Amino acid sequence: MRKPIIAGNWKMYKTVGEATAMLKELCRMPLPETVEVVVCPVFTALYPAQAALAGSKIKLGAQNVHWEEKGAFTGEISAVMLRDAGCEYVIVGHSERRQYFAETDESVNKKTKAALAAGLKPIVCVGETLAQRETGDTEKVIVRQVKDGLTGLTPQQAAGLVIAYEPVWAIGTGKTASAADAAQGCSLIRRTVAELFGSEAASQLRIQYGGSVKPENIAELMAEADIDGALVGGASLEAGSFSKIICYQ
Ligand code: PGA
Repeated sequence: MRKPIIAGNWKMYKTVGEATAMLKELCRMPLPETVEVVVCPVFTALYPAQAALAGSKIKLGAQNVHWEEKGAFTGEISAVMLRDAGCEYVIVGHSERRQYFAETDESVNKKTKAALAAGLKPIVCVGETLAQRETGDTEKVIVRQVKDGLTGLTPQQAAGLVIAYEPVWAIGTGKTASAADAAQGCSLIRRTVAELFGSEAASQLRIQYGGSVKPENIAELMAEADIDGALVGGASLEAGSFSKIICYQ
C-alpha cells in the first residue's frame, strides 16, 4: 500500500515569522496519521521551520537544490546542506524553475541524483504546457521528462521517489485538470516508470497531482487509483485550507 503524501509548496511566500506561525497553527490541528504531510518553505525559513515542527509528524522539504555538494557556486545550496537544515524532501524541476530559471531534464537528473546521494527524497515535477497540450504533445513531453529526469537511477531509487504530475496550464490558474485528465497523466508516469525500472518499482512509486488543488477537489482526485497525493501551491499557504486538503478522507 502506498501512503498518500500531501505536500505544500510555499514558493516565494512567507517570512520566517509567517512560516513558523503557520506551522505552529498546523501542529495544533488534528491531522490524520494515514497521510504523510510535507511543507516546503523558502530556504531562509527551513531551519526555524524545523524547530517549529519539533515533535510533529509533519516533514520538511526544500524547493530546489544544487547538484554539487559544495564549492564556488554563489547563491546555490546543496543537498547535504538541506539535510543539515532538517529537510527530508526536496522539490526538483518544478515548472516555474524550468520556465524562469532554465532548468532542463538534464539538470533535473543531476539534482535528483545529488538529492538521493545525500539521503533526501526528491519530489520530481513533470507536466506539459498549454501549447504542448494543444499540439497533442502531452504524452511525448511527460514520457521524455520522466525518462531523461530519471536516467541512471536504480530501480530501488526509482521506487522511493515521488513524482508530481503538474500540467503547467493548471498551476496557479484556478483551472484544475479534470480528475480523469489528472489520472491519465499519473497512469502514464507509472507505466513509463514500469518500462524503465520494472513493475515492482512502479507499484511502489508515489505520484502526486498538482495544479489548483483545493479543499473542494482533493477527494475526487485522491479517488483515482494512480493518484497518491497532491503538490499544493496557493491552497497550502493558509492552515485552514491546507488542513482541509490533508483531511480529505
Ligand atoms: P497551485 O500550485 O496549487 O497554486 O496551482 C501548484 C504548484 O505549483 O506546485
